[in-house]
Parts: sequence; C-alpha cells; structure tokens
Amino acid sequence: MVLPIYLYGHPVLRAVSEPVTQDYPKLDELIANMKETMYASDGIGIAAPQVGVNIKLVYIDVDVLGDDMPELKDVRFVLINPEVTVIEDGEEISREEGCLSLPGIHEGVKRIEKINLKWTDENWEQHEQVIEGYLARVVQHECDHLDGKVFIDHISPIRKQLNRAKLNNIVKGNVRCSYRTRGFKPNKKR
Ligand code: NI
Repeated sequence: MVLPIYLYGHPVLRAVSEPVTQDYPKLDELIANMKETMYASDGIGIAAPQVGVNIKLVYIDVDVLGDDMPELKDVRFVLINPEVTVIEDGEEISREEGCLSLPGIHEGVKRIEKINLKWTDENWEQHEQVIEGYLARVVQHECDHLDGKVFIDHISPIRKQLNRAKLNNIVKGNVRCSYRTRGFKPNKKR
C-alpha cells in the first residue's frame, strides 16, 4: 500500500526514533509499504518517520543511479537500527540533495562520504561495513531522519533564508506533488 509522505514541518520528522524490536507488530508489512511508497514517489531512500512512524527503519534503493555510478547497480537494502559512524579521514564533499519530505528543494550539502555502518537486515542478521562515496551520503541522509534531522539542517542560514518561502509553503502543505503527502495542520484532528 502506498502511504502518504509526511512533509517538513510535521513533528514526526523532528522526533528521535525508537529502536525496532523483533516482535514489532507487522514489520514486514511496514517494510513492504515503505518500498511501495518510495517507488511510487521516485525516491532512492525512505525512512520510517517519513511515513509517520518513529522507528529506526530505512529502505534504500540506489540502483537507478547505476548508469552514472556503476558501484550503485543492484544496491538496495533494508536497514533496521542502523548505526552510522563518520570516518573522519576524508574531506567534506558538497553534493546536491533532495528529500521526499521537502518537495521542490534541492541544496548542496557537505558531508564526508565515508562511514562505518552497523545494521540489522529484515532477516535479523547483523552487518557491519565501511561504505564510501555517494551511498555513504544516502545512508547519512536517511539515518539523519531517525535522529529528527533533515538535510536542510546542514545548509547555511543564508541558503535556508533563500528557501524560506518554499519552506513555509511546505509547512502549510501548499505543495504540488506527484505523490500523496501529509502536512502538519495544528488545528485539525489528524
Ligand atoms: Ni529525506
């Protein structure tokens, strides 16, 4: 089932997510719905808070970028309770990012594209791997969501100011999108 994407301004995107336990109800169904939602909105990554659930769960599929970056071919995985440690021996690289929760906004974000990632997969097997390049960026972007952060938290105040009108419209839910969204409407019952 395709779920609505929660938009910037909704408190669910600012909460720190809870770890997932193995007895979490209907986890398989949630993972399937997150995949379907991400593909329906042409995303390359989605975090559970973006569908309104504050748990440490991410799905990434960067295969579509494989023509430009062959190392991303066939790369898709579920991250349960991911732990990211940035390996600080590289340089910060600025590349453009966007986010399904911030439609129409694209900004350069500086990150070190080298991380150590620990995670559990959907079969509850544990993994640990050093990841470099663009994929390290995608993982950091998605895992930020689990800490209540979004990519524009990393941009300069000036760049943020230049996007102020767009951001205000997103907060109000005034966005035209090819996918279903849910804005924050404080005075209405949700
Ligand atoms: Ni995002």
